[in-house]
Amino acid sequence: MCPAVGASLLLLLVSLGPNCTARLSGHSQQVRSQALKRLLEVFGMEDAPQSPHTVRQPPQYMLDLYNTVADVGGLTKDPGLLAGNTVRSFLDRTRSQQFQFFFFNLSSVARSETILSAELHLFKLRGRPSQDSLYHRHHFCQVSVYQILDNNNTSTADGKRLLSSRVLAVHDSTWEVFTITQAVYVWTQNKESNKGLLVIVRTLAGLQLNNQIVRFATARDHHSSKQPMLVLFTDDERRRITTSSSLTDVATETPFLHDTTLQNKVSQSRSTRSLDFLACQRYPLYVDFEEIGWSGWIISPRGYNAYHCKGSCVFPLGQNMRPTNHATVQSIINALKLTKGVASPCCVPDKLFSINLLYFDDDENVVLKQYDDMVAGSCGCH
Ligand SMILES: *[C@@H]1O[C@H](CO)[C@@H](O)[C@H](O)[C@H]1NC(C)=O
Ligand SMILES: *[C@@H]1O[C@H](CO)[C@@H](O)[C@H](O)[C@H]1NC(C)=O
Ligand SMILES: *[C@@H]1O[C@H](CO)[C@@H](O)[C@H](O)[C@H]1NC(C)=O
Repeated sequence: MCPAVGASLLLLLVSLGPNCTARLSGHSQQVRSQALKRLLEVFGMEDAPQSPHTVRQPPQYMLDLYNTVADVGGLTKDPGLLAGNTVRSFLDRTRSQQFQFFFFNLSSVARSETILSAELHLFKLRGRPSQDSLYHRHHFCQVSVYQILDNNNTSTADGKRLLSSRVLAVHDSTWEVFTITQAVYVWTQNKESNKGLLVIVRTLAGLQLNNQIVRFATARDHHSSKQPMLVLFTDDERRRITTSSSLTDVATETPFLHDTTLQNKVSQSRSTRSLDFLACQRYPLYVDFEEIGWSGWIISPRGYNAYHCKGSCVFPLGQNMRPTNHATVQSIINALKLTKGVASPCCVPDKLFSINLLYFDDDENVVLKQYDDMVAGSCGCH
């Protein structure tokens, strides 16, 4: 019997049908919930995130990023594009009424995640022309981003640490990105240390400017598409999934991989060309997130084609079956029946591609994650 692990889990879910819990018998229900739990594990989660309470528009940056790394079906376009496998976005949650303070709640970042880089994205608004002569005299300003060390004391040098500083054109209106990796690394190691960020704008001569002349959009006062955002690039070191045995046991009961009577028929008439279509090949296997009940928290894709491999690997194995040398020899031994109990080789994925998921996590932050080995690129006899 060929191993029935990854694809069989998906086939099992698909065969158990869309949200038809009521119609399922007790046993099937148990299998279904076990399968869904296992599928969540494949996606690196213990529980499905709660769907956002209200309809929320994901940040345009995250949508653009997703469309850059993934095609419509979620398949990775270019595996080299992201350094890690996770990109998280956080919106400003500051309670301060002061415009220059920002706070991002990073509690959803696991301590085991490797921090690769962190960016503060601020939308710079056009300054309000004012009678203030400073507005007309200055074309450039210096914007500095500080990590707050002591909330009581942000005006002194002890209370804050400079993270990033840049000269900007006063009259521009664009997104500005500041690297703040150091501070975010510290915050993920020790949540208590996160006291937020402070942004100070000065003239090139060092004079602090007020928020009329140089302004950044805030969550409170401006359109959601211009909200301050922290973008965090990480890697969760979860490159390959390991398979737990429990579901494999369940899954192997589904009779799709190896139909012995069919197998025998093929063996008996293997010279008949008309049966060639039964040889090992790739078939579509669409995983529909709506049917699984995940469409509330997954933004993109709506589903993806995982494909599955099916067909016989009996002698003679053509090159289109992409056999390993080992599989070729095994098929010969099997055909000659030289040794008892030697099955024909297995029809399995021999190339796997990664997919991307854009979703809301429990804190309603938008996350982009890349998952390896999710789509069968081709099938072969192994
Ligand atoms: C951060 O978010 C978590 C989970 O939503 C919450 O329990 C915690 O109180 C928040 N922390 C702050 C400082 O707001
Ligand atoms: C800041 O001030 C509050 C009271 O105003 C105090 O409880 C707290 O310990 C102070 N924090 C630091 C870091 O000194
Ligand atoms: C700010 O910090 C200094 C030295 O760390 C301390 O002497 C001063 O009292 C602090 N000021 C406030 C307002 O907490």
